[in-house]
Amino acid sequence: MIDLRSDTCSQPTPEMRHAMANAPVGDDVYGGDPTVKELESEVAALLGTEDAVYVPSGTMSNQIAVRTHTVPGDSALFDQNAHVYLIESGGVAVHSGVLPRLLPGIRGVFTSDDVRAMFGVSHRFYPTTVNAPLKLLCVENTHNLGGGKIWGVDQMKAVTDVARERGLATHLDGARLWNAAAATGIPEKTFAQYFDSISVCFSKGLGAPVGSALCGKREFITRARRFKQQFGGGFRQAGIIAAGALHAIRHHRARLVEDHANAKHLAKGISKVHGIELDVATVETNIVRFKLTSMPSVEFVDRVYEKGLHVLPSGQDGVRALTYLGISREQVDGAVQIIKAVLSEVPR
Ligand SMILES: Cc1ncc(COP(=O)(O)O)c(C=O)c1O
Repeated sequence: MIDLRSDTCSQPTPEMRHAMANAPVGDDVYGGDPTVKELESEVAALLGTEDAVYVPSGTMSNQIAVRTHTVPGDSALFDQNAHVYLIESGGVAVHSGVLPRLLPGIRGVFTSDDVRAMFGVSHRFYPTTVNAPLKLLCVENTHNLGGGKIWGVDQMKAVTDVARERGLATHLDGARLWNAAAATGIPEKTFAQYFDSISVCFSKGLGAPVGSALCGKREFITRARRFKQQFGGGFRQAGIIAAGALHAIRHHRARLVEDHANAKHLAKGISKVHGIELDVATVETNIVRFKLTSMPSVEFVDRVYEKGLHVLPSGQDGVRALTYLGISREQVDGAVQIIKAVLSEVPR
């Protein structure tokens, strides 16, 4: 089976397993796991922040960030297709009691005018008590539902400048910030500098089995650690998995460009196939999203599965496929052949 469902399907390499098996560990809830500490300080250095906290998942990291930046009854700005808003099980409503306000991003990228427009106007005739106070702006880079779209640094600065002028905190969901950095050659910390908090994942293209980190100023991370515990994220000898994450950031960041080349190769291989709508130029990192014009996505996904290709439907006519550590060029070629075979069976 060629499994292109998600870059979270990556497997730890033998070297990563070796590092994990030999990691020194302690009780992380007591602050006593040396490998977790090493990971946290190395990630903070990469992101250019004072501190970082290792957590079990990207979802928990984002949820802790929203909880730490807000109090129940506040509102926060998200792109209309943001992962933290749409694909985290309603967490911001439950854990933070936050009202999401949605920005009209295109492939996840919105403008400073979009942010400005959310504030309306203030006037002495208008009561200040009726709106939920806006406290947070979230940005996602690369953007998952936007097909791995990379935010430009200037645009990130522009939207976060507006937020800061209006007194909002800023959070970056950088689950795949590593991909943005690898694709552009711009260091992670250059993207990160505009945010009060940044979440990064080790368990996606980097190939570690578990975990994410929330990064920011020391005082923010100290408060975030309390919510990590409250959300049930206090883990004990977590050094075993942190060692996988450490290995991933040391050895697997540079190779992400191979995944991007494979994603482009996949896109080029299928973009001209009858029944597919895909602009190859939109494939900037490791996510390929395309539309089907001759069959519903759920049927397509079943039919390619029967031939040995595992992908996910995304809406009525959309499909997503991701490349990652462990997916070879040969497998991508195999995926192209299977897609062509299935769509050639459709009468024109
Ligand atoms: C942009 C983005 N943020 C957050 C997450 C959540 O990560 P996790 O699956 O580790 O909870 C994902 C997962 O795919 C994601 O794509």
